[in-house]
Amino acid sequence: MSGSSKTRPSLPTRWYLDADHYARELEAIWYRDWVAVGRNEQISEPGDYFVARVGTQRIVITRNKDGALRAFHNTCRHRGSTLCIEPRGRFKNGRIICPYHTWTYDLDGQLVATPYRVESDDFRLDNYPLYDVAIDSWGGFVFICLDVQPKHTLEEFLGTEVDELEGWPLTDMMVAHEDSVDLACNWKIFWENYNECYHCPRIHPELCKVVPTYKQGVFAEYQLSGGDRENADRRSEPGVAEGMTTWTIDGQLALPDIPGLDKDKKNKGMWFATFLGSMFVVGHPQYVRSVRVSPIDPERTRLTISWLLLPGIVESHPQELEHMMSLARLVIAQDGRACEFNQQGLHCRRHDSGVLVPQEDGVARVHDWVRTRLEG
Ligand code: FES
Ligand SMILES: [Fe+2]
Repeated sequence: MSGSSKTRPSLPTRWYLDADHYARELEAIWYRDWVAVGRNEQISEPGDYFVARVGTQRIVITRNKDGALRAFHNTCRHRGSTLCIEPRGRFKNGRIICPYHTWTYDLDGQLVATPYRVESDDFRLDNYPLYDVAIDSWGGFVFICLDVQPKHTLEEFLGTEVDELEGWPLTDMMVAHEDSVDLACNWKIFWENYNECYHCPRIHPELCKVVPTYKQGVFAEYQLSGGDRENADRRSEPGVAEGMTTWTIDGQLALPDIPGLDKDKKNKGMWFATFLGSMFVVGHPQYVRSVRVSPIDPERTRLTISWLLLPGIVESHPQELEHMMSLARLVIAQDGRACEFNQQGLHCRRHDSGVLVPQEDGVARVHDWVRTRLEG
């Protein structure tokens, strides 16, 4: 039970280190859920592609000739070669050509040609389409689901959390800049860190000036009394300091406000939506920031941080972009370092598990979520 004012044990330490456990999590969570992998505008034309990574799997994300999103395992049906060696590009003439023996597929994954192959009477092109993967998008974010028969649609999977960002014109927004950061920690360490502000006073002095509530080592007032988030209104959660308008190093930003935002949310300067385990998105008055999470191995995790703006803003305000990004870069570097020294300490042979204190109710919720998923 999360949100109680008691302590509770953390997850078993080996869940952060052990390769077999990691493989179980990939199967139960990462290869079953919808996972955010990028943005629509990264593949704006038919035949544009990029290769996404989910655990050990590499997935080609593209658009067919009708402009529909398509995804395939990055593996040729002949003898299993990697299809796309480059991480992104455009398929010429709508043809996906294996670099090994040139088996050639169309943008819907159908095998259409096998040059140089000596004929055999049992060979049929139809028998060897690419392994396709479920793909859909919300708010301009591209999601895939590696389950052969997804249990939920993307819409069902995302649920009501998407309502939090109502008013932000996500679909119209475009990536102004993207950073990629590899952390030497298990992916759950990242989400634990994200879900508590107990570390904020020590780790984030600059952020605590922007959001003064964080100085108390909590995300929200209800945590000071050991209350439960389920009963707390998100509108009662803190925002940026008085005199500040947004989430930057000085709480200011010389970019136009996004039109039509909910006043309460806008006045907070930041409004979070979380989609475990692959992404969180924060709406700010002038921009949106998303952080995607991708496990690389038991002790490595890749973050992709994207700053989204409405079209034209990058061109009209190039001098403000660094300012827009500097607080997130600082906070992510601080959190990243904490995640890495946390991971390193878990190698202790005597530390079977840790303990969660009341204001780590968000961490407890992540743990409950992981446990439930593993139980299937
Ligand atoms: S493995 Fe792809 S054509 Fe041979
Ligand atoms: Fe942090």
